[in-house]
Amino acid sequence: MNLTKIMEMDSNYYMNTFGRRSPVCFEYGKGMKLYDTNGREYYDFLAGIAVSALGHSHPALVEAIKSQAEKFIHCTNLYYIESQAKLAKLLVEISCADRVFFANSGAEANEGAFKLAKIYYKKNGMPEKFGIITLKNSFHGRTLTTVAATGQEKYQKPYAPLMPGFKHVPLNDLDALEAAVDDETCAIMMEPIQGESGVYPADIEYVRAVRKLCDEKGLLLIFDEIQTGIGRTGKLFGYEHFGVEPDIFTLAKALAGGVPFGALCAKEHVASAFEPGDHGTTFGGNPLACSASLAVLNTILDDNLCDNAREMGLYFRSSLEKIAKKLNAISEIRGVGLMIGIQLSDNKAVEAKNKLFEKGFLVGSIGNNIIRVLPPLIVTKADIDLFSSAFEEVLGLFI
Ligand SMILES: Cc1ncc(COP(=O)(O)O)c(C=O)c1O
Repeated sequence: MNLTKIMEMDSNYYMNTFGRRSPVCFEYGKGMKLYDTNGREYYDFLAGIAVSALGHSHPALVEAIKSQAEKFIHCTNLYYIESQAKLAKLLVEISCADRVFFANSGAEANEGAFKLAKIYYKKNGMPEKFGIITLKNSFHGRTLTTVAATGQEKYQKPYAPLMPGFKHVPLNDLDALEAAVDDETCAIMMEPIQGESGVYPADIEYVRAVRKLCDEKGLLLIFDEIQTGIGRTGKLFGYEHFGVEPDIFTLAKALAGGVPFGALCAKEHVASAFEPGDHGTTFGGNPLACSASLAVLNTILDDNLCDNAREMGLYFRSSLEKIAKKLNAISEIRGVGLMIGIQLSDNKAVEAKNKLFEKGFLVGSIGNNIIRVLPPLIVTKADIDLFSSAFEEVLGLFI
């Protein structure tokens, strides 16, 4: 089917939540590249917004999905599931968590985190502790509770009255956080690096002070690692950069390389608050998603893709810094590993994104002055060189 027909059907039948999308429909992908319905190739420097960690159609992931689908796709959680048990063991072995629970998306994993934090205090005889403090400009999902948790009014306004119990304080402002804690507070939740609002890393001292505050006040520390987890920052999990361990953290996005999946991970003393019947799911932890996730994690571990993300992140940064020095068009480069935000001096981010698209490079834009780059963890220096020269040409058009 040609693109015009697809766009017409979308506009007639799909709810208009995504507005005018980029005018392309992809037919297949391989590694760093996606190919559209006209056979044109694009370098994917967005990876489905931090999802396609192994790039497209990675043989290990394809094989895992194929062979599981040939056996069976779904199995209710009323029965034991081998790939689920194996994945739970692997996640516990490679992270600071002692137990996991599987969901189908980031928002759903975060919902589980809120439920776990609340039930933990109920079961410990403190039912009055239900408040959760999150950060301004955070993003935690699109369900009603995760919208209330998200510190951005634009996502909340249409759905007022919001789920109660959430307060928001500015990132890296310990005084504001301390002032917000009250007798009702049960947890503090944060992204180690805020992604959706523009790639803003938390300060190391701040995160350590937050951990200390949680310990002193008896609060749970929850990390939303939905974007920062699974190697994106050059370490398997974002918390590793800060020398702290959260009590609960959530994963999704890259966890199964594109098969919808999420995970709620927690320390034993917290996880044990969930008893039979307290939480559940139909699809979460199904054999297909768990097999896909095992393939993703084992490939990341076997192929040292965290190291690649770290090294390529540094190389990317130095290439961007060279462009920033040459052209007066970049005011700041933020991020860690392959989670990169490029702040442009002029309000040209959407234009720059569109020009890059015309040249066959996919990136994201945030507002009108931030370009967001989140390539697959398999990205090479040669890919980055190609991107950088295209980006330099595009920025050159605006100065
Ligand atoms: C940090 C963070 N948390 C939660 C979510 C929501 O995840 P999902 O869209 O899978 O529900 C996202 C998605 O962008 C995210 O970046």
